[in-house]
Amino acid sequence: MMLFVHILCALLILCISVEAYFNVIAKTDEVNFVLLTKASKYVPTWSSLDSRPLPPWYDEAKFGIFIHWGVFSVPSFGSEWFWNNWKEETTSMKYHDFMKQRYPPNFTYQDFARDFTAEFFNASEWAELFKASGAKYVVLTSKHHEGYTLWPSRYSFSWNSMDVGPRKNLIDTFVTQKIIPELQELVETYKPEVVWSDGDWEASDSYWKSKEFLAWLYNESPVKDTVVVNDRWGSNIPCHHGGFFTCTDRFNPGVLLSHKWENCMTIDKKSWGFRRNAVLSEYLTLAELVKELIITVSCGGNLLMNVGPTKDGIISPIFEERLRGIGAWLAVNGEAIYNTKPWTVQNDTLTGSTWYTQSKDEKQLYASILEWPENDILLLGSLKTSKNFQIQLIGHSSIISWKQSDDKLEIYLPANAHRGQPAWLLKITK
Ligand SMILES: *[C@@H]1O[C@H](CO)[C@@H](O)[C@H](O)[C@H]1NC(C)=O
Ligand SMILES: *[C@@H]1O[C@H](CO)[C@@H](O)[C@H](O)[C@H]1NC(C)=O
Ligand SMILES: *[C@@H]1O[C@H](CO)[C@@H](O)[C@H](O)[C@H]1NC(C)=O
Repeated sequence: MMLFVHILCALLILCISVEAYFNVIAKTDEVNFVLLTKASKYVPTWSSLDSRPLPPWYDEAKFGIFIHWGVFSVPSFGSEWFWNNWKEETTSMKYHDFMKQRYPPNFTYQDFARDFTAEFFNASEWAELFKASGAKYVVLTSKHHEGYTLWPSRYSFSWNSMDVGPRKNLIDTFVTQKIIPELQELVETYKPEVVWSDGDWEASDSYWKSKEFLAWLYNESPVKDTVVVNDRWGSNIPCHHGGFFTCTDRFNPGVLLSHKWENCMTIDKKSWGFRRNAVLSEYLTLAELVKELIITVSCGGNLLMNVGPTKDGIISPIFEERLRGIGAWLAVNGEAIYNTKPWTVQNDTLTGSTWYTQSKDEKQLYASILEWPENDILLLGSLKTSKNFQIQLIGHSSIISWKQSDDKLEIYLPANAHRGQPAWLLKITK
């Protein structure tokens, strides 16, 4: 991400409840919110807001889909920062040339909006795909940094007026008359379970009135017991305050963190919004995506994986193939992901590409093998077995044999189980 100077257009608010928008992917039914509703009133200070327990559905879900879709999907060139990159361009003339060669003089970014047609957008098709991907929640850019809202807001100024005029005079009233009412409108209308804020680097949390908004969200909003929020609520707030920590884009520390966190990343390595000129090698492979999911979950995080639909509302087959691939893998191996918790060790001391999770009741241990070992023998240094241990390869019926010695555990994997899957799961029962 980069610095963005259009202060009026700065806050990216991404919200979605899967139920509200797509009405299909159900949250787990067994989540019990009774304890949370007993919480006392939150006041607009970080110590009070940070004391709110995270609603449990979020940690259980582990995997969500991020959608960057907006006016930037029309030029679909460069990235979703098209407008900013074009306006701020000084050395390279990539965006100026792009515009000059294809659009009439004086064509503005706002002129792209009329081509944001979504003519093939079909919410049931999207919902079917997200469900097939195994994702449990969806975060949609309901407003990106250029300020264009994806919902009919009563508080949206004329979009064009943002680009001109004496912005400074507006700033005082901007947050109280626009940002906060817009957010409250969004929450009251769509009842999102996730409020994912961005643009925090622009100004302080006091400027954004973030703490006041969160106190309202936690105390009074229609989603006060179930909503989760991220940490991008003002400069220096990420990684310190808020709900789950996102810290930076593509945050994946590779070690266990004590605070719940989320790795937001994108299948297209170079952009969050759709790019017409992307090539195959710029998309992460299925194996790379599954690896990201496994490492993230082993270290206590959730994965939020982004796709960029086209201006027409199409999720292109390359994204579809990745999503269905992850879903197919999760359909077999999901018990090692959903509703699990980190183990005492995250990746093995002998074979660092094997990552652990365990069931909440600690009866099952899972070892995700990212690299199939030579000679089909996996060496593990972090696990000490005793006689009554049972080891299974998920999705494979034969019994796995193993040998424990003082310094290592040798696991004899069935060679015929190696069929190019992105990862293999051992289920270890004590
Ligand atoms: C483009 O804008 C400039 C400055 O506002 C104006 O002088 C010019 O006539 C415009 N050109 C066209 C083709 O509209
Ligand atoms: C949306 O897609 C579904 C599934 O393909 C189809 O049955 C339905 O008719 C579509 N709806 C519209 C409005 O095109
Ligand atoms: C465990 O994973 C981390 C992060 O990827 C890596 O730095 C470390 O080397 C791994 N441990 C081993 C023993 O390979």
